[in-house]
Amino acid sequence: MKILIIGASGMIGRAVSDALKNQHEVITASRTTGDIKVDMSNPASLRELFPQVETLDAIICAAGNGTMAPVATMSDDDFNRTLDSQLKGQMNVLRLGRTVVKAGGSITLTSGVESQKTIPTTSVISAVCAGIEAFVRVSRHSCGLLLLKKVAFA
Ligand SMILES: NC(=O)c1ccc[n+]([C@@H]2O[C@H](COP(=O)([O-])OP(=O)(O)OC[C@H]3O[C@@H](n4cnc5c(N)ncnc54)[C@H](OP(=O)(O)O)[C@@H]3O)[C@@H](O)[C@H]2O)c1
Repeated sequence: MKILIIGASGMIGRAVSDALKNQHEVITASRTTGDIKVDMSNPASLRELFPQVETLDAIICAAGNGTMAPVATMSDDDFNRTLDSQLKGQMNVLRLGRTVVKAGGSITLTSGVESQKTIPTTSVISAVCAGIEAFVRVSRHSCGLLLLKKVAFA
């Protein structure tokens, strides 16, 4: 399969890439490393990326740049970056990437147990994870043949 991994240099993305690269054609991407540079928080950057990879069997997104902080101490910058990167960024991957994934292929976004567990320092990340899960749940019914998945890490 031809698989695009966004966030392939990260802790999770590297493990996913290592597990797949011997049996599949893996294209890696992130802002600073990989086969292709992309900033998923910027729709224009993704619109440049997708024509370069043409048709894909799967997109795996294990990317994000969020801040763990209690809501009382989180700065405006951290708040906005967490939402722009982890929530809107992953939503961008789905809404803009769906057109390059073959029928029957898949798009995988990454959530976290923070959507369910009450951990004070994950205030905004909890909202991000819950938002991703809701977005995937609803979008899978409006994306034709695409199989959408969420992966939650503990
Ligand atoms: N690790 C955990 O225990 C855990 C638990 C729950 C959820 N998660 C979520 O899983 C995802 C990956 O976690 P991780 O621990 O593997 O993170 P990580 O080690 O910090 O790696 C993040 C990856 O995302 C890329 N990235 C960051 N912002 C990006 C952007 N705007 N556009 C494109 N690529 C971007 C980074 O590369 P560049 O800096 O080069 O862009 C890097 O490859 C995150 O969304 C995280 O919140 C992780």
